[in-house]
Amino acid sequence: MDPVTAAYLTESIYFTSRLTMSVKTVIVTAPINIALTKYWGKEDEFNIYPLNNSISLTLSQDQVRPFDHLYFIEKLMTTTKITTGPHLTKSSFSLNGILQKEIPSRTKDVIILCLLRARLSNRCPVYRHVYIESTNNFPTAAGLASSASGMAALAFGLAKLYELDSDITEIARRGSGSSCRSMKGGIVQWIRCPLNETQEQLTRKSFAKQLYPCTFWPELRVAICVTSAAMKPVGSTLAMQRTVHTSSLFAHGRISSVQINEEKLLLALKNKDFSSLGTVIMKESNQLHALCLDAWPPCVYLNEFSLALIRWVHGINKYFGRLLVAYTFDAGPNCFLIAEAKDMPVLQHLLVASFGSVGPDTNPAGDDMVTVDADGSRR
Ligand code: ADP
Ligand code: DP6
Ligand code: CO
Repeated sequence: MDPVTAAYLTESIYFTSRLTMSVKTVIVTAPINIALTKYWGKEDEFNIYPLNNSISLTLSQDQVRPFDHLYFIEKLMTTTKITTGPHLTKSSFSLNGILQKEIPSRTKDVIILCLLRARLSNRCPVYRHVYIESTNNFPTAAGLASSASGMAALAFGLAKLYELDSDITEIARRGSGSSCRSMKGGIVQWIRCPLNETQEQLTRKSFAKQLYPCTFWPELRVAICVTSAAMKPVGSTLAMQRTVHTSSLFAHGRISSVQINEEKLLLALKNKDFSSLGTVIMKESNQLHALCLDAWPPCVYLNEFSLALIRWVHGINKYFGRLLVAYTFDAGPNCFLIAEAKDMPVLQHLLVASFGSVGPDTNPAGDDMVTVDADGSRR
């Protein structure tokens, strides 16, 4: 693993049956990522080939510190423990402490793909069954990318368990598309890789690659404002399917628009031009939610606080006469604010003034506004 990735994904491995070394356990963690240009639509539902590239920021585990009125979360991440050995008679999966009646089919796909690779690589004994216990330390299915950190942790954990060293972003993708981006640090691109005429379906690749390490733009910060910890009304998988099938906005321009936005984003990153970066990510976020509203039945993700935050950002930028803060929302009501370090103190102050207290000690119950430091906050 490259050193940058190692800083994002952590692992520990131990054998509980020391004599035979047959019962093996791994514990891994993986971070969330926030999409700057959004993945919203699949070309192939089974293999999870997206209709467009997407670019995201992996939220560094050491530098993200969200607050909640109930508890202080050090890092937004998934921790997954996987055990295998001859003693297991079936595979099972527990999420956030609740044993699931069935293993979801895409979770099964990830397990099977890793198992097959393990059998082919012949590196260590491979038992048929695994016991997976996974926990997110932030709201699940609330638009905070739990499927991304969850599936990244699963794929990474299985790769460690079976000693796989090939690119597993391709396997993670099968669990949840956005998860392949959580397997790399910094600014990451998920490449769609269209099928060309000469290529066989089997040799097709769609993988995540790091565009810039986290040290590239050390002044970038993200603040996460949790406006609701509730599960979203429609999961991302179904909502994007619905959008592709029913939204005429999607059919008439989304793909060309996101390609243009990707070019603008790449240029803004290259020039470290925060104003252009902010503009393009806000427009991407707004387009995602316009598409969701244009789906039928519509998927309404933003709540009154999300909308208030959008207005607030535009108001702040107008007041200061420059773009100093940008927002982006995934498929959910929770807001990711992006700014440069120098502007964070004043923004935090204004957030508190506008929306109430922020922080682990001051945030009263019932007020869900929370903030975090961001990726890239190299100190
Ligand atoms: P989010 O915005 O949180 O990514 P999604 O609708 O994309 O929401 O995905 C939510 C689903 O992801 C959950 O219902 C669950 O099936 C899966 N998921 C969430 N966390 C984990 C995890 N830690 N391990 C495995 N799967 C997970
Ligand atoms: C709005 O990766 O959660 O967050 O591949 O069906 O599991 P599946 O969907 P998922 O979709 C994420 C959509 C998004 C934008 C993004 O992360 O690029
Ligand atoms: Co998701």
